[in-house]
Amino acid sequence: MASKMLSFIFLAIAFVTVESNSEGDALYGMRSNLGDPNNVLQSWDPTLVNPCTWFHVTCNSENSVTRLDLGNANLTGVLVVRSLELLPNLQYLELFGNHISGQIPSELGNLTKLISLDLYKNQLTGPIPTSLGHLRSLQFLRLNSNKLTGKVPVVLFKMIQLGNLQIMNISDNYLAGTNSKIGLTVYFRKTSCEDTICWCIEIGQVFYDVRPTVSNS
Ligand SMILES: *[C@@H]1O[C@H](CO)[C@@H](O)[C@H](O)[C@H]1NC(C)=O
Ligand SMILES: *[C@@H]1O[C@H](CO)[C@@H](O)[C@H](O)[C@H]1NC(C)=O
Ligand SMILES: *[C@@H]1O[C@H](CO)[C@@H](O)[C@H](O)[C@H]1NC(C)=O
Repeated sequence: MASKMLSFIFLAIAFVTVESNSEGDALYGMRSNLGDPNNVLQSWDPTLVNPCTWFHVTCNSENSVTRLDLGNANLTGVLVVRSLELLPNLQYLELFGNHISGQIPSELGNLTKLISLDLYKNQLTGPIPTSLGHLRSLQFLRLNSNKLTGKVPVVLFKMIQLGNLQIMNISDNYLAGTNSKIGLTVYFRKTSCEDTICWCIEIGQVFYDVRPTVSNS
């Protein structure tokens, strides 16, 4: 009986350890594609039981990663998120103010718990992936000041209208057919005002209050 109990406990611990390690491996996979001239990722030691003691990583009480705070960290290289799918509880991905290049990985759309995706002020190119439309919990999407091209996926506007998205800043890119950064810049903010929902749309430096037409039927 006691030995059965013990082996159960052992199995449970082994399971937790394996699960935690997969999150560490996912982060380590991301690290391996980034350049880190200031060694801000030095504490990311894959031999530790879980990544919760690493700098710039925050976990919940179950030792599952909820935040990555790597803003203004001078990181270079590309963002490879394939393995980040293994971070099921990630809520905050803060990578603003770095020198990250390449495309925004469409796999980010798998991080369904994301509340905040801050990739602003980097060197990102290519389109905004439509898969971001899967992020039903997303409240803050800041992709401004990159080199993004292509059309803004309609699904993002739907996320503002129907989802939780409150702030989306896509200014200072080459989006929507503009071939210079002086082109149209758009910034949205959904705020509640009185009993209805107002949108604030910034085009350039000018703010417009827009009330969405709501069908009563
Ligand atoms: C990034 O680089 C700048 C200039 O080299 C330096 O002043 C700053 O401390 C660096 N930031 C970090 C987080 O190391
Ligand atoms: C992750 O995202 C990619 C690209 O959007 C998709 O093809 C893939 O099926 C997703 N994987 C999971 C596990 O959802
Ligand atoms: C939106 O992005 C632009 C370009 O980076 C920036 O100048 C502006 O301050 C941002 N707006 C807000 C409200 O953050």
